[in-house]
Amino acid sequence: MSEVAITEQETKERRRNDRMSLTLRLWRQKNQAEQGHLVSYKIDRILPEMSFLEMLDVFNEELTHKGEEPVAFDSDCREGICGMCSLVINGIPHGPGQGTATCQIYMRSFRDGDVITIEPWRATAFPVIKDLCVDRSALDRIMQAGGFTSVNTGSAPDGNAILISQAKSEEAMDAAACIGCGACVAACKNASAMLFVGAKAKHLNVLPQGQPERRQRTSAMIEAMQVEGFGNCTNEYECEAVCPKEISVSNIAFLNRETVRCLITRTSLSPLVTEE
Ligand code: SF4
Ligand code: FES
Repeated sequence: MSEVAITEQETKERRRNDRMSLTLRLWRQKNQAEQGHLVSYKIDRILPEMSFLEMLDVFNEELTHKGEEPVAFDSDCREGICGMCSLVINGIPHGPGQGTATCQIYMRSFRDGDVITIEPWRATAFPVIKDLCVDRSALDRIMQAGGFTSVNTGSAPDGNAILISQAKSEEAMDAAACIGCGACVAACKNASAMLFVGAKAKHLNVLPQGQPERRQRTSAMIEAMQVEGFGNCTNEYECEAVCPKEISVSNIAFLNRETVRCLITRTSLSPLVTEE
């Protein structure tokens, strides 16, 4: 009994000693029209087991108690599924760690006394709405441009009526893991969305159900990508390095091959084909 009590006390003591004091350099921007800037704040008593977003919640509570405007940032599921969280932490989209979204970063990745710079995604196609929130609806418009499949709505098909090989379904599922967060765009010096578009094109284009609109879907998504102002890939590999779902750059090679197929079959790719 007494042994347990001592252990609990020791644990409490450790938790007290483990608390960190940090300096946050946060991007503050009132709205899209006004210019933003980095503002430094101090924050104490942060536990290593807190998630990065919990740390920001605690920070926002402190700001609110002081009567100051809390910092706006996006999040939803907080378990690496929805793609909403989007912070550049110390210059890296989604911060330290590999294959993790911002919401999966824990404060144990930092040390007491650290200065942490937190900025929004930076890309012309992602205008800042407020503080750390950016408008990523350009990615939705790309999906809208190409993201449907024809479905024969006859009687309900038997399960596994369309046979798909294990290799093909794995390929499609790996691509479908993209959560549409936009970190690949934020990391790329050209603000290219080709990893995102490659993954979205692939997860339908390799399956039998995706064949009827394959060319039209690809060309429409590429056109939408260019209209939205995303740049082109120059093989920097930064996108793959920051992707929380570890989407491979081989999806970009796939997209390039699909583009060539569209050009050969003369499927419309108007923004790509300029008149001489
Ligand atoms: S490819 Fe990766 S980084 Fe890009 S949107 Fe999808 S999940 Fe995010
Ligand atoms: S909040 Fe949903 S992926 Fe981070």
